[in-house]
Amino acid sequence: MKKQITLTVNGVKRELLVAPNELLLNVLREHLGLTGAKYGCGIGECGSCTILLDGEPVLSCLTLAAAADGSDVVTIEGLMGSDGKLHPLQGSFLEHGAVQCGFCTPGMILTGKALLDENPQPTEEEIREYIRGNLCRCTGYTQIVQAIKERSKEKLSP
Ligand code: FES
Ligand code: FES
Repeated sequence: MKKQITLTVNGVKRELLVAPNELLLNVLREHLGLTGAKYGCGIGECGSCTILLDGEPVLSCLTLAAAADGSDVVTIEGLMGSDGKLHPLQGSFLEHGAVQCGFCTPGMILTGKALLDENPQPTEEEIREYIRGNLCRCTGYTQIVQAIKERSKEKLSP
């Protein structure tokens, strides 16, 4: 039997009817048309489905939508400002060539944002450790780490 849940998704309150076994990734992509979170492995190995759930990076392919009832969800679509400008971390990824095929990018950026929210001045080692659950088959990670590091430096300036 379906269950009614409420999620605040990218600042907008949503009432949704979901099956008990329905995954949050599916609800975001299929019910709400938010396709930024990607279906990669579906078994918690790649990080491409990462979203922020109450500010924490979470694998939406392993999260039941019903279990997220009442939560605040941020997807990559929610990072853009109301003025249509990219989030500074998105800009940093572009500047540093940290986006190639782009499949890992939404999850990687949301994980990077969670890190900077928690630790505004991470070391390179801390960045590598934090993003270890987000796999990238294209970049070799160097540009991604640089993009997050540079953004942390910018946060120091007014
Ligand atoms: S699709 Fe969720 S971890 Fe790979
Ligand atoms: S840019 Fe292609 S998987 Fe990361």
